[in-house]
Order: sequence, then structure tokens, then C-alpha cells
Amino acid sequence: MGLKQIDFGTPEYEQMVQLRDEMLRKPLGLSFNDEELMEEKNEILIASYDDDEMLGCCILRPLDNETVRLRQMAVKDELQRKGIGASIISFAENLARDKGYRFIIMHARDTAIGFYEKFGYQIKGDEFTEVNIPHHIMEKELI
Ligand SMILES: CC(C)(COP(=O)(O)OP(=O)(O)OC[C@H]1O[C@@H](n2cnc3c(N)ncnc32)[C@H](O)[C@@H]1OP(=O)(O)O)[C@@H](O)C(=O)NCCC(=O)NCCS
Repeated sequence: MGLKQIDFGTPEYEQMVQLRDEMLRKPLGLSFNDEELMEEKNEILIASYDDDEMLGCCILRPLDNETVRLRQMAVKDELQRKGIGASIISFAENLARDKGYRFIIMHARDTAIGFYEKFGYQIKGDEFTEVNIPHHIMEKELI
């Protein structure tokens, strides 16, 4: 298994959109539109691979000089609870730190809060709805 940064618009990016669609949108009866995908052109795209198979992924969106937002975190259904999510988050944190960011925030689905808490993320503020399901903002200072 290996982790790497991938480039927007490549076959690997198409693989990533497909995984995210399967894991994060279809189960909610939603899909991506071109406009939101175009915003990913300048974002940091991260994927976990076993040979040519993408196992999971996430994206870092720079918000300002200090903060990135971790988004679109997903691991294939049948591969969850095997440590892949943990390795993706640790790779993303190291990358963010190397690029000089101090904070990672996210809009965490309530069902994933326990996962992020394992890595030191804390809830900030009240519940809100996104993609029709409950979320909380979570934050961690990178040290
Ligand atoms: C959330 C998700 C990314 C976690 O990935 P994963 O590969 O299953 O996680 P890991 O196996 O690395 O788990 C790391 C730790 O978190 C725990 N954990 C994993 N998912 C959890 C969850 N949903 N709630 C609470 N704890 C969780 C694991 O038990 C493990 O704990 P341990 O170290 O004490 O054994 C994955 O379940 C997923 O893709 N879910 C569907 C999409 C989703 O909800 N994405 C998040 C959007 S905000």
C-alpha cells in the first residue's frame, strides 16, 4: 500500500471522483457537478493505492495561509476499519505541515466524528446540515 498526491484531470483523478461518488454521493442520492469539481483544480489531492487499485482518498483545500480544510475523505466500503483512513489522515497532516499550514479543519459527518477524534480533532460549534445530513466543524492544530 502507498500514498501519493495526484493531479487534477488525470486518469487517477477520474478514479478518485468515481470512488468519492460511490462512497460519499450515491448513498445520499446525490452526484457531483462540473462546477464543484473544477474548484478542485488548485487543491491538494491525496490517494491511497494498492498497485493500480485506489483504496481511499481525501482532499486538502487551502482556506488561507494558516488553514486547510480536509474534505472528501473516503475509504472503499469493503476495506474500512483496516487502518487505511488512519494512514491517509496522517499523510495529509504531514503534507499540510510541510507546506506550512498550522490548522486543519473539516466539516465532519456526525457518523465520522469518532474517527476524527482518534486523531485529536475537536468539535467547534453547533450541528449543521450539509448534503442533507448532520455535520460538525472539527479542528486540529498541527504541531
Ligand atoms: C470514516 C472513514 C474514512 C474511516 O476510514 P477507515 O479506513 O475505516 O478507518 P481506520 O480503519 O483507519 O480507523 C482508525 C480508527 O478509527 C476508528 N474508526 C473508524 N471509523 C470510525 C467511525 N465511523 N466512528 C468511530 N471510530 C471509527 C477505527 O476503529 C480505528 O480505531 P482504533 O485505532 O482504535 O482501532 C471510512 O469509514 C469511510 O470512508 N466512511 C464513509 C465515508 C465517510 O463518512 N467519510 C467521512 C466524511 S466526513
